[in-house]
Amino acid sequence: YNEEIPHEEGMDHSIALLQEGYLFIKNRADQFKTDLFETRVLGKKVVCMTGPEAAKIFYDLDRFQRKWAAPYRIQQSLFGVGAIQGMDGQAHHQRKQQFLSLMDKRNQERLAEMVTNELKHSIPQWEKEEQVRFFKEIKNVLCWVACQWAGVPVKEEDIPDLADDLISMVYAFGRVGPEHWKGRTARNRTEGWMENIIEDVRSGNIPADESSALYVMAFLKDEKGQHLPAKKAAIELINVLRPIVAISTYITFAAVALHEHPKTKEPLKEHNSRNLEMFVNEVRRFYPFGPFLGARVKEDFTWNNYTFKRGTLVLLDIYGMHHDERFWETPNQFDPNNFKNQDRNDYSFIPQGGSDPGKGHRCPGEGITVEVMKATVDFLVNKMDYDVPAQDFNYSLDEMPTLPKSGFLMTNVKRI
Ligand code: HEM
Repeated sequence: YNEEIPHEEGMDHSIALLQEGYLFIKNRADQFKTDLFETRVLGKKVVCMTGPEAAKIFYDLDRFQRKWAAPYRIQQSLFGVGAIQGMDGQAHHQRKQQFLSLMDKRNQERLAEMVTNELKHSIPQWEKEEQVRFFKEIKNVLCWVACQWAGVPVKEEDIPDLADDLISMVYAFGRVGPEHWKGRTARNRTEGWMENIIEDVRSGNIPADESSALYVMAFLKDEKGQHLPAKKAAIELINVLRPIVAISTYITFAAVALHEHPKTKEPLKEHNSRNLEMFVNEVRRFYPFGPFLGARVKEDFTWNNYTFKRGTLVLLDIYGMHHDERFWETPNQFDPNNFKNQDRNDYSFIPQGGSDPGKGHRCPGEGITVEVMKATVDFLVNKMDYDVPAQDFNYSLDEMPTLPKSGFLMTNVKRI
């Protein structure tokens, strides 16, 4: 029997979820003084949870499943229909191993080195320009590098449009109306394009290195040992390209952090990988990207005197927990020293999910994200010089995802 947990009055809070965005769960958890409460979203009961203990439960594979967790509109924009994000059990495990095999330490470093090289190549052009919008530039850099790294043949002139489409898929997430549809159109277009490439790889018309993401995704098999339909393979290939390009959001926030907290630059001049890592972890804690995660209760179970009913949608807070005084000393200050004494590889720091990526749904691209961010931050601090003109750095917490308004403008860019 259910012990009472707070539940919000009212028929539906979907609008509030979109309006309050990143703070939807934290606002209510603070108001009800609880880590667990019920609300209604899209006409259905939803349980929201926050805190490391809740996060640990959320990654118990016996208790939660991902099938039916993401609304169809999110699959049609962000993930792709039938992608790894919504799989469970052995089929998920098998697919996940394929992703992880592409993202070992050597591959992380190779990608990061490619990013540094591409930044070097981009500088002469930026030096000529009166003003550079860093988000726009870095998304193109990452898109070009992602395609090279994955072995996907794309012409250089097609990169800006592809990068925009990949970003639109991500930014469709918490939006309704035209911006949501833009993401869906972008997905349809990109899926069609990548599907053709996959078919060409299968027929031998396009060569692919066996260790490349393109090859691995083209020849993915289902549980019965059959090749996936080309469209499904394309969806998983996009699941590699899109998030690499999405790192440009964190990198733009990192540029803002360097500008607004100049003291944090000093340790980054020491060419010490650990200092860079502390800085990028603090960027991933402090700034908003993934707001929360969703999963469905697999079988009834009781936790904290509350019975989770089979099939209930449960949302796990990310952003709110990263800003909770119980787990962080000064949560609303940007301070890389938050990561001084520990890696925080625990359940209170989950920007890319928690638990073991080999077992559950934690992001397989976390190593890539950290290495690419470290390389870019190192470049910004030690390899280039620039002025930062007056501009609007604000970002709105009620848009999911969000970005500093100006996209980070730079002038007088120079290589050093
Ligand atoms: C899953 C965040 C970069 C590929 C996830 C999850 C989050 C996340 C929150 C879900 C965890 C869960 O459901 O338990 C991010 C952020 C990134 C990023 C904030 C920085 C931009 C990457 C990169 C890649 C990647 C660079 C690949 C190159 C994936 C895939 C999944 C995933 C394939 C699904 C894993 C599964 O369902 O088992 N990511 N990610 N992500 N991420 Fe990332």
